[in-house]
Amino acid sequence: MQKDLNTIVADVRAKTPAIKTRAEFEAYKATISGPKGVLTDVMKGMGKVPKEDKPAMGKAINEAKMAVEAAFASVIEGLEAAELAAKIGPAIDPTLPSPDSTHGTLHPIAQVREEMVDLFRRIGFSVAEATEVESEYYCFDALNIPADHPARDMQDSYYLPDELSVNNVSKKGDEKYLLRTHTSTVQIRTMLQEKPPVRIVAPGRCFRRDTPDATHSANFHQIEGLYVDKDVTLLDLKATLDHFVKTIFGPKAKTRLRPSFFPFTEPSFEMDFFSPDLGKLSNKWLEIMGCGMVDPEVFKAVGIDPEVYTGYAFGMGIERIAMILQGVDDIRYYYQNDVRFLKQFA
Ligand code: PHE
Repeated sequence: MQKDLNTIVADVRAKTPAIKTRAEFEAYKATISGPKGVLTDVMKGMGKVPKEDKPAMGKAINEAKMAVEAAFASVIEGLEAAELAAKIGPAIDPTLPSPDSTHGTLHPIAQVREEMVDLFRRIGFSVAEATEVESEYYCFDALNIPADHPARDMQDSYYLPDELSVNNVSKKGDEKYLLRTHTSTVQIRTMLQEKPPVRIVAPGRCFRRDTPDATHSANFHQIEGLYVDKDVTLLDLKATLDHFVKTIFGPKAKTRLRPSFFPFTEPSFEMDFFSPDLGKLSNKWLEIMGCGMVDPEVFKAVGIDPEVYTGYAFGMGIERIAMILQGVDDIRYYYQNDVRFLKQFA
């Protein structure tokens, strides 16, 4: 009998590794431990074993059963792994280059943002960021925007419900939270944290309740610039903006500053540029940003002495620059994620 058991275990160990399917496994298992299986037969023979041999025989049968079960379990394990692998499909190597060039490239807005940020980094600006949710103080009051300014109107900004709590943005009791309407908030947050000289650009998302059309979107992006130091003048602003425009739009581009008004700069300007080689947009003055010298009221709000320091600030829409550079005539294309559109900028 012991000999029979040894033969069975040896057979199971030899055959099971070659089993490839569940059907094959069930058929083989039946020949071993099924009702007519060889192991079952040996067990049935226990009845005829003399009493004194029973303990030894029982032990031998148990050992054989355990060996057979272990072999069967490893067959099941192998089959399950193979079934899972078949479901998942062939192994992929995520480090291989993508066969489709539209995968893994920056969005056209991000491309222009990076180009602009790189340009300013090269002339000594660092990048600053702040939250998209803001309190009225940082979005308006600290920027000298009076309570009756139209930007503060419910119709123009996205205010958040009073019950909302935003842990990382502080506000006074009766203030409201809103989605920032411009990146000028980053001027305030940066000046509260850093002592002059401050030289930053702040790219980021902004929100206004504009009716969406070809040139307006409720959600858009701006880049803010701020330079504060002793003796910063309008000439510094003009030189920096000239450099920006010539780098982005080509050496033949010209700039002009037109008087304007912003509560947080004095004097304030709109900057236009003009280029002879911009396709349809050639030889026209195009307005691209607001700018000016930091208003003394803003310095007072952040505890910087306006008698000692001066500064300039500018802010522009990234979409506006991108549309001119990329020849896109409807801002909405940027947000539809239509691969036929995006592919053109890959
Ligand atoms: N924040 C202004 C806007 O959104 C732009 C601006 C920024 C103007 C900095 C002057 C200085 O229109």
